[in-house]
Amino acid sequence: MRILNLKLLNFRNYAKLDIHFNPEKNIIIGQNGMGKTNIVEAIYVLAFTKSFRGSKEDVVIKNNCDLARVEGTIQDKYTNDYKVIIKENGKKVKINNTNIDKISDYLSKINIVLFNSEDLKLIKDTPNTRRKLINIELSQFSNEYLKYLTYYNKVLKQRNMYLKTLYINSMASVDYLHILTNQLIELGLKINTYRRDFIAQISEYVTENYFKITGNSHLKLIYKSDFNDQSKEELLKKYQKEEKHDIMLGKTNIGIHRDDYEFQLDDYNLRDYGSEGEQKNAIIALKMAEIGVFREQKGVIPILILDDLFSELDEEKINNIIKFIESDIQTFVTTTELDKINESLKKGSSIFKVSNGTVEESVYEK
Ligand SMILES: Nc1ncnc2c1ncn2[C@@H]1O[C@H](COP(=O)(O)OP(=O)(O)OP(=O)(O)O)[C@@H](O)[C@H]1O
Ligand SMILES: [Mg+2]
Repeated sequence: MRILNLKLLNFRNYAKLDIHFNPEKNIIIGQNGMGKTNIVEAIYVLAFTKSFRGSKEDVVIKNNCDLARVEGTIQDKYTNDYKVIIKENGKKVKINNTNIDKISDYLSKINIVLFNSEDLKLIKDTPNTRRKLINIELSQFSNEYLKYLTYYNKVLKQRNMYLKTLYINSMASVDYLHILTNQLIELGLKINTYRRDFIAQISEYVTENYFKITGNSHLKLIYKSDFNDQSKEELLKKYQKEEKHDIMLGKTNIGIHRDDYEFQLDDYNLRDYGSEGEQKNAIIALKMAEIGVFREQKGVIPILILDDLFSELDEEKINNIIKFIESDIQTFVTTTELDKINESLKKGSSIFKVSNGTVEESVYEK
């Protein structure tokens, strides 16, 4: 899968932009704050309809403008034009100029593996961050997963609200709570199955990749969930036991919203036992595993974005990433200095020099 071009209107610091990409290697260079990440962010928005940074979706609209537009042509088996229009009060998406009414019908068509400096904290970060990564990946594989997850979050919110009602009003009926608990369990079991299978699959690639990087073949991912190996009946009992506690705290203390996964190296949790370098290599192995899963499970080669990694990683670790970049994967790299980039990655690449919302294109020659 490749993105052939990108057109922006009032996106971040770009009033207007129209650029054509290299089918293989693209390097976006410029000083801090010039708009490098904004370009790869726009590619991401084209795929996911929202950014990987900022909580509010309309932050990408250029200051003092009413809408931002991102357009791009994606070449896969077929070639299609995608468009995302973001306004303060909502967004619109189009494929080949036809409106797509449901965002969920638009998602999961453009596949991206994004690797940025934030990801380097993944092992030390909160379970929430780790879940977010799995959710983004799984949503690209399965529209159904995304639907279950959205529905689960809605029911969870309702249940938490009702727990608060029950706390204030002891006369309120628990029947409604039990209906919500039932729904939560049914949806949770579905999500648990998706996550279990996905983490098991990705773990195999992680093991293989970590071996390629370090020669150690004992890194694996372990899925942790209240729902693992539980029947509906067993879960109902768990929720029953926790009910008073839930009401007291006004939140649901059991469920797949608390799921996590652990990196285990030689059976030790890498978060507690791993060195800085081991943790970074493990994350590289995971990120590159995402490509493997796409390639072999979905039959697509995703677009790879490496944002701002080159200032965070030493040469050896960068080379570890480059080992996995093959010529058939379209790659985007952002950097402040070309010198930080390995010669083999630079060779034949298109260079986009960014300064304050304008872009100048050239081809790297040595
Ligand atoms: N909504 C917006 N409207 C206008 N400008 C914006 C908007 N959001 C961000 N910017 C500007 O975009 C610039 C940041 O761009 P970006 O994050 O792409 O920089 P960068 O080149 O990746 O920098 P670094 O090397 O530090 O990562 C900032 O100068 C910021 O003021
Ligand atoms: Mg940046």
